[in-house]
Amino acid sequence: MKIVSNCVSTQKIHQKYGGVVPELASRAHQELIVPVIEEALNAAKISMDEIDAIAVTRGPGLMGSLVVGVSFAKALSLALDKPLIDVNHMKAHILAHFIEDNNMDTPQFPFLCLTVSGGHTQIVEVQSPYDMKVIGTTIDDAAGEAFDKAAKMIGIDYPGGPELDRIAEQGNPDKFSFSKPRIAELDFSFSGLKTSILYNLRDWVKEDSDFIAKNKIDLCASIRKSIVDILISKIIMASKKTGIMTIAIAGGVSANRALRRSLSKMEKDGFKVHVPKFEYCTDNAAMVAIAGKFAFDQGDFATQDMAADPRLKW
Ligand code: KG4
Ligand code: ZN
Repeated sequence: MKIVSNCVSTQKIHQKYGGVVPELASRAHQELIVPVIEEALNAAKISMDEIDAIAVTRGPGLMGSLVVGVSFAKALSLALDKPLIDVNHMKAHILAHFIEDNNMDTPQFPFLCLTVSGGHTQIVEVQSPYDMKVIGTTIDDAAGEAFDKAAKMIGIDYPGGPELDRIAEQGNPDKFSFSKPRIAELDFSFSGLKTSILYNLRDWVKEDSDFIAKNKIDLCASIRKSIVDILISKIIMASKKTGIMTIAIAGGVSANRALRRSLSKMEKDGFKVHVPKFEYCTDNAAMVAIAGKFAFDQGDFATQDMAADPRLKW
């Protein structure tokens, strides 16, 4: 399945407030949805009547933003008389692996997908595009949230994850160590690590008020290592439990360089690892299109009474 255009409108407004303000996010969606669709059609060089179906994210996510997308898609579906397809955001992240432009082979079923974003941290057992099961999840913060909150503590603006990752490339990951969570089975927890970082920083800053500035690069590298180690240990545990050796990653945090490297290194231990291209890791339109195509092939269409669901389940 090929992608003809993949336009994403990032909302700069959230940087100003140090996080996503739901009300501002929905307003921005409202303003940007028409221009971004025009841009996508122009980039693809197609007209509205060449479209076969309209896929839209139903959830999980922020209600206001979802409502803008769902209402717009419903109206477009009625106006063009084309089928409407509702997509689960988390499944779409996983199905991004089946975009042909990925420049690498698509995962063979069954595979395990580590889905790590700003809102979710999951290990998913994927038997087919239509049969996915969550076998591990976070009991508190999501991995992306852990990156963003830790970044904030050392003075990096929201969303801090990508910038912390960039700075960490030059640092020593073994310079500082933080406490590790002890959570049974395949679930994750990041709140203990967050507290450990906070308390350590507080002590170090008490002794030297310039501590963070002086050690920023090594702090970034050490924090990144702590989070990545947690993710890797759980995916290895999941593989042992299920006997599945094919591993994929999805979601915004899969753009993380250290995570990508650690996973790739697992290939020498007999794992088959699938890491998507950067542009298909963080939220994007192509992943929704690909999830829509799988539903289209099954004739799995939505009706006009479909409603956005911020807590959409699997
Ligand atoms: O999937 P996504 O684009 O949006 C959600 O659905 O949440 O994920 C965004 C999250 C943010 O927390 C962001 O800081 C994190 O992914 N992220 C990263 C990197 N790129 C994005 N975290 C660590 N390293 C990165 N390179
Ligand atoms: Zn996402």
